[in-house]
Amino acid sequence: MAATGACIFATLLSLLILHISGSWAADPDMLQDICVADLASPVKLNGYACKESSKVNASDFFFAGLATAGATNNSMGSLVTAANVQKVPGLNTLGVSLSRIDYAPGGINPPHTHPRATEMVFVLEGTLNVGFITTANVVISKTITKGEVFVFPRGLVHYQQNAGDSPAAVIAAFNSQLPGTQSIAATLFASSPPVPDSVLAKAFHIGTGQVEKIRGRFAPS
Ligand SMILES: *[C@@H]1O[C@H](CO)[C@@H](O)[C@H](O)[C@H]1NC(C)=O
Repeated sequence: MAATGACIFATLLSLLILHISGSWAADPDMLQDICVADLASPVKLNGYACKESSKVNASDFFFAGLATAGATNNSMGSLVTAANVQKVPGLNTLGVSLSRIDYAPGGINPPHTHPRATEMVFVLEGTLNVGFITTANVVISKTITKGEVFVFPRGLVHYQQNAGDSPAAVIAAFNSQLPGTQSIAATLFASSPPVPDSVLAKAFHIGTGQVEKIRGRFAPS
């Protein structure tokens, strides 16, 4: 009897460990074929509530927004067009999404992180300098060109810059329906309410006047 009890306990413990490690791996697994996001539902949970199945059709699984280049005439010279659960409601609970990123010559997708996803880019056009920074502050970088791929591990700060003199574009794949993005500079200098000047001044080894100057550059355009 004691042996049986110990056995059950060990089984339960390993199931618990499996469950915990599973829920840390990526978006959680789905429990049904489809759960098309009801983006208008007032019900808040981990993801979106499912739309009534009689109202589901092909348009919930379709998006044409990555077919054409986005406008890159902004201060960064780049534009991210997301095809995540907010654009493709059928992605709800499926744990994947894509983006298209377009870059003007010299344009950058500034250093940022995705808290919920690893990213893999495939170059559609052009040549880019890309890289990520490990938690040991080591930069892993490479120049990539049409047809090549590069991986940015989950949560690590990364960037891309168009290294050519013509427009560049990539398709980015994520293991999350909604990877989330924190763009480091904007997160620190354009948050609302603002991060205290004294915090940024000490963190960046600069004066509060310089903090204000940088903040001003992020003023609404
Ligand atoms: C899907 O249903 C919506 C209404 O919920 C409708 O507007 C749309 O035309 C339908 N699309 C297809 C492909 O049937």
